Amino acid sequence: MTTPSTPRSKPPISGTTVVAGVAGAPVAHSLSPLIHNAWLEAAGIDGVYVAFSPREDGFAAFANGLGGGAVRGVNVTVPFKEEALRLANLASLAARRAGAANLLLFQPDGRVCADNTDGAGLLAAIAEQAPGFQLRAGPVVVLGAGGAARGAAAALLDAGAPEVRLINRTAARAQALAAELGDGARVVEPSAAVFADAALIVNATTLGLGGGAGPDVPFAKTPPSAVVMDMVYRPLKTGFLVRAAAAGRSVVDGLAMLIGQARPSFEALFGAAPPDIDVRGLCLAALGEPAGGKE
Ligand SMILES: NC(=O)c1ccc[n+]([C@@H]2O[C@H](COP(=O)([O-])OP(=O)(O)OC[C@H]3O[C@@H](n4cnc5c(N)ncnc54)[C@H](OP(=O)(O)O)[C@@H]3O)[C@@H](O)[C@H]2O)c1
Repeated sequence: MTTPSTPRSKPPISGTTVVAGVAGAPVAHSLSPLIHNAWLEAAGIDGVYVAFSPREDGFAAFANGLGGGAVRGVNVTVPFKEEALRLANLASLAARRAGAANLLLFQPDGRVCADNTDGAGLLAAIAEQAPGFQLRAGPVVVLGAGGAARGAAAALLDAGAPEVRLINRTAARAQALAAELGDGARVVEPSAAVFADAALIVNATTLGLGGGAGPDVPFAKTPPSAVVMDMVYRPLKTGFLVRAAAAGRSVVDGLAMLIGQARPSFEALFGAAPPDIDVRGLCLAALGEPAGGKE
């Protein structure tokens, strides 16, 4: 028995289909294919977005093989963001400031262009879930000094944060980041005083990923107006955000950032703004979270 074919709003895959994707190791858990393919479908764009899992020691060979027009570009995730920047011929200011790239675009002439949309995603998430928040309102505390913290700290300073305080388990990594960022960034030891006047607190560590309490922050001693963000989005309501919300603080989740970084990536890869569809709802369903899903 045959079933009627589903009406399509985008052409079937053919010789003209634009190929893009996300590269990471591991990558099977990534929500990016779900997000980008939903936008492609809704916009009727002749493109496809797939997941690539290069060997951990084989990213350069992988990226070189995609150049020259075979693939339009790839988002890049753990652990390849810093290597992605190093192998690019051209890099945006955002990528250079972050010292990491989450997007590579392969030009037909063979050149590779690096960009970083994580910072834009973080700012978009804050604008969406904590409307009215002013970055100039006070210091920001960033927990972590890995690839995600790099993009966040650079974007926050460049968007007007008066100071970014970095806390990291490995102090040397935070010192290196502070030195690269220059004015406005400094490494601090965790203490109540560090959080007492914080306007924004961002978890950019992997603590809380897959469950657990997340980083230890004295939320009750932060200003009542403080905004708390967690980049971790598995689970969506991390222990970190649950405790912040219980203390009455506004919270911003990592899924909003993920979708926020995907928007400019889609535009760069497929040459069109993503259509206005409920990709957050799709992601919540994929994560097994209830619809709505915000604290
Ligand atoms: N929502 C989004 O769009 C988005 C985008 C990017 C990343 N993320 C998330 O952000 C998180 C960080 O990603 P990343 O790319 O920055 O990873 P990364 O480069 O591996 O950095 C991991 C960070 O977590 C810290 N850390 C790990 N285990 C720790 C522990 N047991 N105690 C204290 N600190 C610990 C590391 O400290 P050390 O330096 O001491 O090792 C480092 O600062 C991940 O959960 C990732 O999924 C989300």
